[in-house]
Amino acid sequence: MRKPMVAGNWKMNKTVADAVTLVNELLPELKAQTAVDRVLCPPFTALYSVSGLLKDSGIGCGAQDLFWEAKGAFTGEVAPDMVAELGKYVIIGHSERRTYFGETDESVNKKVLAALAAGLTPIVCVGETLEENQGGKTEAVVTRQVNAGLSGISAADAEKIVIAYEPVWAIGTGLAATGPDANKVIAEYIRKPYAALYGEAAAQAIRVLYGGSVKGSNAAEFFGQPDIDGALVGGASLKKADFMEIVNAAAK
Ligand code: PGA
Repeated sequence: MRKPMVAGNWKMNKTVADAVTLVNELLPELKAQTAVDRVLCPPFTALYSVSGLLKDSGIGCGAQDLFWEAKGAFTGEVAPDMVAELGKYVIIGHSERRTYFGETDESVNKKVLAALAAGLTPIVCVGETLEENQGGKTEAVVTRQVNAGLSGISAADAEKIVIAYEPVWAIGTGLAATGPDANKVIAEYIRKPYAALYGEAAAQAIRVLYGGSVKGSNAAEFFGQPDIDGALVGGASLKKADFMEIVNAAAK
């Protein structure tokens, strides 16, 4: 049985002071909800403070990106070991990084391998744009992102990663996919190619989250699907009540 996971992607929101306030608000209820793996991914500037507050709480902390090189002259970048010092997770290949910052399947793959080597659990984002969806290209795009982005993982690591299916047209738009549609993409275009790469056991062991306009009112529709193991939450992770509604729905 796969344990449900709900991860909050705060994106470029929250100063250190705001992050500390939100974590302190969340901590009592979030700590108690042990049926769900809970993860908070603040911006880099708040990672140190948030990780300190989450220490020994059972709640995971993660970054929203990393660079694959270990150290050196890479101005503005953050190395895998620097993230691993503060968190256990890292989001890789989010569509905003692919769209605005030139992330490719190849860079995603380098980052996934570097994250695993540093002992981090990558949360790897895949998903089609509206144009690709309407052009009937969802299968081709998502399977390509899985095959290219997730190649070369060792057998030992193949069961550790987390994938987030985030249709780009559903992110931040209020227009979520339906539960059955998202489940179909995950079962057919994510777990199947993953099974071809790493075997059926690994494909069944990994957790695959849905992301894109998840809120308290639609969370249960996703969590009721057999192949959806939780959610990667953007907007609704920024307020305590909204985020707790989703985490509590995942526990049911
Ligand atoms: P959203 O973002 O929940 O605001 O749609 C999800 C994400 O980008 O991870």
